[in-house]
Amino acid sequence: MSAPTTNDEQEHAARGPLWLEARSITKQFGAVIALSDVDVSFSLGEVVGLIGDNGSGKSTFVKILSGVYQASSGSLLVEGKPVRFHSAADARAMGVETVHQDLGLVDSMSIARNFFLGAERRKGPFLDLKRMERETSAMLREIGLGNLRAIGQDVSRLSGGERQAISIGRAVAFQRKMLILDEPTSALSIQETEKVFEFMRAARDRGLAVLAVMHNLTQVRDVADRFVVFYHGRKIADIVNTGQSEQDLAHYIIEGKLAEMGIEREQVDMGVIRAITTE
Ligand SMILES: Nc1ncnc2c1ncn2[C@@H]1O[C@H](COP(=O)(O)OP(=O)(O)O)[C@@H](O)[C@H]1O
Ligand SMILES: [Mg+2]
Repeated sequence: MSAPTTNDEQEHAARGPLWLEARSITKQFGAVIALSDVDVSFSLGEVVGLIGDNGSGKSTFVKILSGVYQASSGSLLVEGKPVRFHSAADARAMGVETVHQDLGLVDSMSIARNFFLGAERRKGPFLDLKRMERETSAMLREIGLGNLRAIGQDVSRLSGGERQAISIGRAVAFQRKMLILDEPTSALSIQETEKVFEFMRAARDRGLAVLAVMHNLTQVRDVADRFVVFYHGRKIADIVNTGQSEQDLAHYIIEGKLAEMGIEREQVDMGVIRAITTE
């Protein structure tokens, strides 16, 4: 396959230094090659939107970056030094926080308890609830989520967008370097999606590297500084967001399928693309 498509703006996209590099990552599950020789670099202060058809390897890649899976071959580097993430805890300790699709929040616990899940403040043998509530309030205010309901409230009372906000806020508050979100807005209303995007931008502006897997091409154009496109386990494009059309992005995603069907780029109509990409 030919080299991935890139554009000249590449060097100018990120506002911060290179942080994490995935080099030549391949992942096999038995006979299935989920990822093949994938190189992607992530810089601080940049939102990367990862797009691609179902089964193109996006979640597998996310799981490798977050320590859930180990690559069959290839390497990860943080600040230029090789690292190995043997577990999600390893990745977190190095600064990679992942917001999984189910978010990992406990419904029956308060916002403050969820914020400190796994990192509880204690006073002797007891949980220091007052302190956790105080610190949660302060952190939420600091990252622009100050008006988010009473922090003593159960998480079950929150909307999908508010839940995402807590998960994102947690990554920022615990000073991670990289925030990964796998399909963060798939179950959200348009209004809530816009809010979550604001939090993602806020995380980026505070200097985090942000990677968001997205399936909605209109939405990803609103939030990503750079697009990385996977096709059948390979990276086929890595381009700075210069306002490419939804149609252009869709073309990358379904390049192979369109060619098989004998459809020219110019003939692509969004109805056809939606039918193909959502099948
Ligand atoms: N745990 C697994 N065992 C076997 N095959 C897997 C596993 N996880 C993913 N795959 C396969 O790897 C490919 C990529 O899947 P995935 O990364 O989930 O794609 P995406 O997130 O882009 O939809 C698919 O063919 C999928 O069936
Ligand atoms: Mg997936």
